[in-house]
Amino acid sequence: MILVTGGAGYIGSHVVKLLLDSNFEVLVIDNLSTGFKKAVDNRAIFVEADLGNKEELDKMFIKFNITGVIHFAASAYVGESVLKPQKYYKNNVITTINLLEAMLSHKVEKIIFSSSCAVYGNPTGQVIIETEKNNPINPYGHTKLICEKILENYSRAYNLTYINLRYFNVAGGHPTGVIGEYHNPETHLIPRVLEHLLGKYKDIRIFGNDYPTKDGTCIRDYIHVMDLAEAHKLALVALLKNHTINEVFNLGIGKGYSVKEVISKCEEVSGIKANIRYENRRIGDPAMLVASADKAKNELGWVPKYDINHMVSSAWKWHQNNPNGYTT
Ligand code: UFG
Repeated sequence: MILVTGGAGYIGSHVVKLLLDSNFEVLVIDNLSTGFKKAVDNRAIFVEADLGNKEELDKMFIKFNITGVIHFAASAYVGESVLKPQKYYKNNVITTINLLEAMLSHKVEKIIFSSSCAVYGNPTGQVIIETEKNNPINPYGHTKLICEKILENYSRAYNLTYINLRYFNVAGGHPTGVIGEYHNPETHLIPRVLEHLLGKYKDIRIFGNDYPTKDGTCIRDYIHVMDLAEAHKLALVALLKNHTINEVFNLGIGKGYSVKEVISKCEEVSGIKANIRYENRRIGDPAMLVASADKAKNELGWVPKYDINHMVSSAWKWHQNNPNGYTT
C-alpha cells in the first residue's frame, strides 16, 4: 500500500486517482487544512490526521502495510511564506521529520518528495538543469530545500531511499472533469484568471510588469497536472524496484509563458476579455523559471503529453462546472 500525505490537495488528489487506476492500493492522510475530502477518490482509504500528530502517524504505520510514501502535505504559497515563515517551517520541515521518524521506526524505506523549482531562486541561465545552484529567495523554497537535504543525509545514514521531484507551475485538471484545481483563497495565476472570467473577482492583478523579460511580466514553465501525476507513477515504480534511487528530477515542460501570455490564453479559451490591473511586484517572485526536463525524460522514460491549451481548457471546463469548487 502506498501512503500519500496531502492526498486531498490539488496535486495529491490527481496522483491518488492515477495510482488507483494503475492498481496501487492507496492510503491518504490529510488534515484538510487546504485539501478537500471530496477530491479524494473513494477507492482510497482516507485518514483525516495531521502529520504533527506522531501518535496518529505511528498507528497508521502499525495498522497498514505501507511499502512506500509520496509526501505532498505542505503549505505551498510563495507569497504567504514571506509573511508567515513560522507556519512554513512548521508545516513543511517539522512534519517531514515526523513522517521520516515514523517511516524509519516501521522500516518503510521509500519516499517520493514533492519539491519545487523554488529551490533554485533566481537562476541566471535560460533553462534550469538539476545541477543548477540552489539559492531560494523565499521561505517556501528554503523549506523545500531543507527537506531535500534531510532526505539526502538520512539516506546516507539509514535504510532510506528517495526521489525528489521539483515541480514547476502545475495547472489543469483531470480529463474526466471529476477533479480539478481549487484553493480558497485562490492565488495561483491560471485558476485566479479563470475565476475572474467567471465573475468571482472583478479583475486580475498582474504583479509587476518591470521584470527583465520580453513583456516585463514573470515567466513560468506550466505543466499539466496529469503529466506531473504520470511522472510520480514512473518515479514510484523506479524507486520500488531500486532502478532509480536518491535522485532529483525537474518536472516542467521546458517552455516558458509570461503572465500576460497566460492571461491571453485564458481569454482565448473562454472567449471572455479579462479586466487587467497592474500592481507592484509580489515579494519572493523570481523573474523567470523554466525547466530542462531532459533528465526525467531520459531516466524515468517520462513523456509529457499536454500543452498550455490543454491545461487552460481542462481548468476552464472544471471551473465552469464547479463554480464553488469543492465547497458545494
Ligand atoms: N500572478 C499574478 N497575478 C495573480 C497570481 C499570480 O500576476 O493573481 C503571477 C505571479 O506574480 C507569478 C506568476 O503569476 O509571477 C505565477 O504565480 P503563481 O502564484 O501561479 O505561481 P508561483 O510561480 O508563485 O508558485 C507556484 C507554486 C509553488 C511553486 C512555484 C514555483 O504555487 O508551489 O510555483 O515557481 F513552488
